[in-house]
Amino acid sequence: MDINVGLIGCGYWGKNLIRNFMETENCWLSAICDTNKGLLEKFNKRYPSLSTHTDYKAIIDSKEINAVAVVTPVHQHYRLAKEALLADKHVLVEKPLAASVAEAKELVALAEEKNKVLMVDHTFLYTGAIRKMKGLIDAGEIGDILYYDSVRVNLGLFQEDINVIWDLAPHDLSIMDYLLRERPVSVMAVGSAHVKEGIENIGYLILNFDSNLIAHFHFNWLSPVKIRLTLICGSEKMITYDDLVPGESLKVYDRKVEVMDSDEAHDKLLYDYRVGDMWAPKVELMEALRLVCGEFVNSILEQRAPLTDGESGLRIVRILEAAQRSIKNNGVEVKL
Ligand SMILES: NC(=O)c1ccc[n+]([C@@H]2O[C@H](COP(=O)([O-])OP(=O)(O)OC[C@H]3O[C@@H](n4cnc5c(N)ncnc54)[C@H](O)[C@@H]3O)[C@@H](O)[C@H]2O)c1
Repeated sequence: MDINVGLIGCGYWGKNLIRNFMETENCWLSAICDTNKGLLEKFNKRYPSLSTHTDYKAIIDSKEINAVAVVTPVHQHYRLAKEALLADKHVLVEKPLAASVAEAKELVALAEEKNKVLMVDHTFLYTGAIRKMKGLIDAGEIGDILYYDSVRVNLGLFQEDINVIWDLAPHDLSIMDYLLRERPVSVMAVGSAHVKEGIENIGYLILNFDSNLIAHFHFNWLSPVKIRLTLICGSEKMITYDDLVPGESLKVYDRKVEVMDSDEAHDKLLYDYRVGDMWAPKVELMEALRLVCGEFVNSILEQRAPLTDGESGLRIVRILEAAQRSIKNNGVEVKL
């Protein structure tokens, strides 16, 4: 049986999901909804088989549709996802899952009660680079992870309803959540609003762990240059991930530093530097959103949790909310 999908929100990201759902096997995107009629007319010309609606209730109330994608601004995720779950639909929600921990928890509980798939679009986990990195880390290639450092800055699109952390951090936090076995125990964050009062356009986050692993993130919508760079330092090797260099986005450096292993060396703090080869692992260049749509449909058909399930969405929202609280309190440490 094909999964019949309805999609709500046909803006910048919605159009990418529409295109990918159209090409996903075992599913049929039958209806789309947006309050903007002009957008619907454009999609109707391109995909005449789609039924178009300005009221999302047409999708929620449809007897034929059994799965709904919510691709609206963040403040609407909870309400639309909840209504869809209450109407017994499986739901794919854009990142972040919801605008608060309370909302995200309620969605996770409701999906469980209704026995429906609740998936969040943490797109980066479906990229070849992140899947490759996960394989390297799980195989022990870089050893124990010592620190995680990530920068995502550009002259970004200022959002109306959320600050830079709620907009950009779900990407890097979900990548970190996927790659690391350890979960953070507290957050410290600072940020500033320079353009629109109350909406921070720059933010720095530090996540602490029970071990001496530390993670740092820098997000900025007000940067003259675009940087998307992550450094992961392991006890054996180091990895860099530059999302702006397709095909060669990953580099593994055979580099490490340790105090030499002798009593004299320990006394005098003599260091042993290993500066070995660097290699760029082959990364599969398939559009991540195709895999997102496939995972949503397959998890429904196979009656299993998707890779990016509601719980993973909740973990990210928990960090976002704690970071927001820390920013409001001048960087105070907030326990998770
Ligand atoms: N995964 C990613 O990499 C990624 C990238 C960009 C955006 N997003 C997410 O996608 C979502 C949408 O972002 P966007 O940039 O496409 O925003 P957008 O403003 O371009 O599009 C949102 C669309 O939703 C429509 N809409 C709003 N409320 C509606 C309602 N009640 N019923 C029907 N339509 C409604 C708007 O008319 C608009 O066309 C956000 O949650 C954002 O975080 C994810």
